[in-house]
Amino acid sequence: MNSLKVLLLDCSPRRDNSTSRHFTRHLLPAMAERLGRDIQITRRDLGTQPLPPITESHAESLVLPGDVAKERFGEALAVSDELIRELDQADMLWISTPVHNFTVPAVLKNWIDHVVRIDVTFAAGPNGKVGLLRDRPTFVAVTAGGAMFREPAYQPDFFRPYLSAVLGVIGLKDVTFMHAAGLVSTDEPLALVEAKAGQWLRDNPQRHASSESNASSIA
Ligand SMILES: Cc1cc2nc3c(=O)[nH]c(=O)nc-3n(C[C@H](O)[C@H](O)[C@H](O)COP(=O)(O)O)c2cc1C
Repeated sequence: MNSLKVLLLDCSPRRDNSTSRHFTRHLLPAMAERLGRDIQITRRDLGTQPLPPITESHAESLVLPGDVAKERFGEALAVSDELIRELDQADMLWISTPVHNFTVPAVLKNWIDHVVRIDVTFAAGPNGKVGLLRDRPTFVAVTAGGAMFREPAYQPDFFRPYLSAVLGVIGLKDVTFMHAAGLVSTDEPLALVEAKAGQWLRDNPQRHASSESNASSIA
């Protein structure tokens, strides 16, 4: 069986002490084992090697039909084209990220601005935007210092609604959030992250079947 191609986006500016990278280190191999597939990871370290911001030409291109945009601004869209190709070739998207100010870090927002492109990854129809990418399992391993993602909410959650909506626009609707929050209240955040990863895997044994069926239909 072919390897499962995973596009991994690491979004933390931290390296060795990053809780989100640690969360992913525990969850991703376990998920691969559940799927019974070798995985081949393409990694974008957005946190430590941020992408360039989108340019004036990129923004101008978005108000033109796709083919005209390509002809007029082709070179200026090279980074965006490469990121979209990378995403399109992946069987699974894995986003490893902290919460920054109630939502996604700026480096992830920047990746989103590059890949959400009219007539390329979504089409605008009379009833709104329609995704043009095929759906594939998307996992979001997210960590937060405060008490996010719980009831009663102590902080507004603009993270999950935003990410679900914007990934949905380009066709990625099979999105699973795995979170480890409240890390600021422990002296050992990495140990808490490991415990949360183990708990998520125990609580979600069925995730195996759904991902496997999606993955094998794509491969
Ligand atoms: C710029 C910045 C903004 C943050 N905003 C929030 C926030 O809104 N809510 C929260 O719970 N934690 C917030 N945090 C804390 C991080 O989410 C938390 O420390 C997380 O574990 C960091 O993950 P990392 O170690 O992978 O970078 C923020 C941290 C930074 C650096």
